[in-house]
Amino acid sequence: MNLKKMVGYKAAEFVRDGMTVGLGTGSTAYYMVEAIGKRVKEEGLSIVGVTTSHRTTDQANELGIPLKDLNEVESIDITIDGADEISDDFQGIKGGGAAHLFEKMVANQSKEVIWIVDDSKMVTKLGKFPLPVEVVRFGCQQVYNLFDREKLNPSFRLDDKGDRLVTDSGNYIIDLHLEVIENPHELAKMLDSVTGVVEHGLFLDCVTKVIVGREDGPEVIDVKRN
Ligand code: 5RP
Repeated sequence: MNLKKMVGYKAAEFVRDGMTVGLGTGSTAYYMVEAIGKRVKEEGLSIVGVTTSHRTTDQANELGIPLKDLNEVESIDITIDGADEISDDFQGIKGGGAAHLFEKMVANQSKEVIWIVDDSKMVTKLGKFPLPVEVVRFGCQQVYNLFDREKLNPSFRLDDKGDRLVTDSGNYIIDLHLEVIENPHELAKMLDSVTGVVEHGLFLDCVTKVIVGREDGPEVIDVKRN
């Protein structure tokens, strides 16, 4: 069973006529965009999408989903996106697809944020998945060296050709190989304070609903926050 497709299609059911919808990035979000595209075509569903990467923009355009830029919308009703890891207290790591800067900007404007994952992404504590940090190219070696001194096990992410991967915003990604993140808020604060860091992949206190793909069907979890 294709669990990514299962949760992508399930999430698309939460989209209603008239909504402004944040469209995430990645192999799971791909199915959600496909499902929304079908609803637009077959049911005449009327929505406006706000995409989180060039890849998703291309897919949405091919499917005829009307789009607006993040600058053009007042707010976003719902954003549906994938995730790389979700901890048992529903904090997340994103950016495996190097799109976390736009993804976080779109999520921050959204009334509801749904993450769609197969059950392999559900973990007790974050950190096994390398934490992506987007950095400006200027002086990035200094940022790398700082991470190295802080024992954050950095590595520059490479593309298929072995060159440093360049994001949609023209930046590099440094992945931090941490194994376990004991205090995500503390780490986020530290990373936010480093000049040259554009955005990191810790998405904290952000998600409102998680849809987990399991062999026996999708599980929809409403996330309660204090
Ligand atoms: C892209 C992301 C993706 O949502 C995340 O990497 C999950 O991707 P996939 O669904 O392909 O496993 O954050 O920046």
